[in-house]
Amino acid sequence: MKEKDQYQPIGVFDSGFGGLTVLKEIVKELPEYDFLYLGDNARAPYGSRSFETVYEYTLQCVKHLFENGCHLVILACNTASAKALRTIQQKDLPKIAPGKRVLGVIRPTTEIIGAHSKSGYVGVLGTQGTVSSGSYLVEIEKFFPDLNVTQEACPMWVPLIENNELDNEGAEYFIKRHINALMSREPKIDAIILGCTHYPLIENKIRKYLSPEVKLLSQGTIVAKGLKDYLHRHPEIEENCSKNKTVNFLTTDLPETFDKAASLFYGQPVKSKHLSL
Ligand code: DGL
Repeated sequence: MKEKDQYQPIGVFDSGFGGLTVLKEIVKELPEYDFLYLGDNARAPYGSRSFETVYEYTLQCVKHLFENGCHLVILACNTASAKALRTIQQKDLPKIAPGKRVLGVIRPTTEIIGAHSKSGYVGVLGTQGTVSSGSYLVEIEKFFPDLNVTQEACPMWVPLIENNELDNEGAEYFIKRHINALMSREPKIDAIILGCTHYPLIENKIRKYLSPEVKLLSQGTIVAKGLKDYLHRHPEIEENCSKNKTVNFLTTDLPETFDKAASLFYGQPVKSKHLSL
């Protein structure tokens, strides 16, 4: 049982800035809780790294969040959810913290995707790592076995966003190229999951290359609603989440650099602290 005034934030982890798009929606949905965000900027991006590396980095960050009072950690990173979540849940948690929980962003999205498609054909856009892990295919199959899923890896999108190159012709070229590649492989697609934390920032640009009837699903609001529902269904976890309305930020890189770029993703000023791992 939680002691009064104890700091037990909900941990939100990402490889860098992207998870802030998810945190923003979670805080809107659950403003009464405490949150501790950790961005592993010093080792980002994770998108093209191996399973072993993503797993090792993610586990290290999860352990750090546990040491800082978190009982529940959300992997707000698709690549980490795709490559590390299952092993952490099945192999590590029972050993290191049996009463604690780690959740990802893929499941809440795949649970509802079927309700958004009339044609029965959906698309998934993500990093190379997320796409080649096949995690979306496996998870969607569990909930909607008849749904036809086409994936497209967009390795240039994260660097374009992080390097502030969005208003250049080069960005348009790469956005159009991947959307056209996805839609020409399967023209019947009528719902697309933005399966990467960064993509909500280019939703308007993606939209330009799609017909209006194709739905685009950003994960922030879906994950936030899923988390609210999870806390409701799991009072034994919820009672270990403190409620003092604080949001704190940690980065493994320079806080000044983090704070500058973070506001673009979070929508308001951010003041982070450095964490050395
Ligand atoms: N956060 C990552 C994701 O959602 C994108 C950035 C990276 O590659 O590290 O997949």
